[in-house]
Amino acid sequence: MDSIRVKGGNELNGRIPISGAKNAALPLMIASLLTDDTLTLENVPDLADVQQLIRILGNHGVDHSVNGRREKQQEGYSRTINFSARHIVDTTAPYELVSKMRASFWVIGPLLARMGEAKVSLPGGCAIGTRPVDLLLEVLQSLGTEIDIEGGYAIARAKNKRLVGNRHRFGKVTVGGTHVGLMAASLAKGETVLENAAREPEIVNLAECLNAMGAKITGAGTSTITIEGVDSLSGARHRVIPDRIETGTYAMAVAMTGGDVVLEGGRIDLLQRAIDILTETGAEISQQDDGIRVKRNGNGVRAIDVTTEPFPGFPTDLQAQFMGLMTMASGQSRITETIFENRFMHVQELARLGAHISLSGQTAIVDGVSRLKGAPVMATDLRASVSLVIAGLAAEGETTVSRIYHLDRGFERLEDKLSNCGAVVERLSG
Ligand code: UD1
Repeated sequence: MDSIRVKGGNELNGRIPISGAKNAALPLMIASLLTDDTLTLENVPDLADVQQLIRILGNHGVDHSVNGRREKQQEGYSRTINFSARHIVDTTAPYELVSKMRASFWVIGPLLARMGEAKVSLPGGCAIGTRPVDLLLEVLQSLGTEIDIEGGYAIARAKNKRLVGNRHRFGKVTVGGTHVGLMAASLAKGETVLENAAREPEIVNLAECLNAMGAKITGAGTSTITIEGVDSLSGARHRVIPDRIETGTYAMAVAMTGGDVVLEGGRIDLLQRAIDILTETGAEISQQDDGIRVKRNGNGVRAIDVTTEPFPGFPTDLQAQFMGLMTMASGQSRITETIFENRFMHVQELARLGAHISLSGQTAIVDGVSRLKGAPVMATDLRASVSLVIAGLAAEGETTVSRIYHLDRGFERLEDKLSNCGAVVERLSG
């Protein structure tokens, strides 16, 4: 199993190209199931999760082709990929495929909308809480789906083979539920209104793509989205937005190590709250034409309290990285996780680097230390693992992060991007 070795102590200086957003690319790829035409997606990141979803979609009959040239100069190393679901050959998503990635459950929305039926394994996925799918099934039921749970599968059938628009209020803000609701309602008969919808930029990116394919969606980015169903959707060409979590992660890395880095293609508007908080900690952040510039000089890091919230609040996907930063702040900070119930697994690994953190329910109380010290640590989930890498960059001595297959799910060429800015990072195989 590969690991990453980091020698800490260097500032980061230079440029880091930001890749296409994983969490936008996945639902956009799934949207290709809605049409027999070709959906061309630009700026798709080259990640293990994307490869896995390509396999899952292939099982349903989606062909794909990657356009040759990498867009290396512009934004990360992401690529343009054509997806074509001319014929859906199978409406079943088996356990072996879905259990590897939770978001693959979302195929249930477009399969039902286009084919009137779907049999999708209940997901496994990241070990960050129970993460049920009840909210996803409820929105489909509102649109006229009958659902049976049998043998670990959700077996879904649209009454009379076609979904019917309806008014639906999500019991809790859910990104996946909103994606599924949008895709399903696009081909339903009549109007759907989704209330208490997620407002994440990835939702807006999907809605814009669906509209380019001929859907009639208004209100994406607000908590009420209206979808006028259409009979069919066509192909389109659409661009994946830059990854705000990758952007925020590298911004925090610079805040920890010090230095001056331009995050090429990064957009402050995609992570406003996180940028405000980082600025309060003492980092200098500005939007430039070519991306976001992040600087921190020799001043200490200020301790700031943070609570994770749905967009536009502070994202749960940056909580672990922010905790890494707070371990070296002067003073105490309280970090409260409100989205997932078991998302503090990085706490004991950060403690191995010398961090002082105690847990009280859903709140981590972090007492800053003057310096972290390198140690062998283990990655537990995607965002937690990157928090260990960036903490290692700021620590004295050597840190080895094992089980980094989690990182490859969500961070494109992490070692290249960091080494190009002066970090000493290498991948060890075996
Ligand atoms: C997406 C993101 C993930 C991010 C999360 C919250 C992708 C591929 N993943 O995950 O990186 O951390 O949003 O911003 O985009 N819930 C239920 N029942 C459901 C669905 C969700 O109770 O049917 C709960 C979850 O357990 C969680 C909360 O709702 O407590 C929010 O989850 P949700 O927004 O759905 O997360 P995902 O879409 O899975």
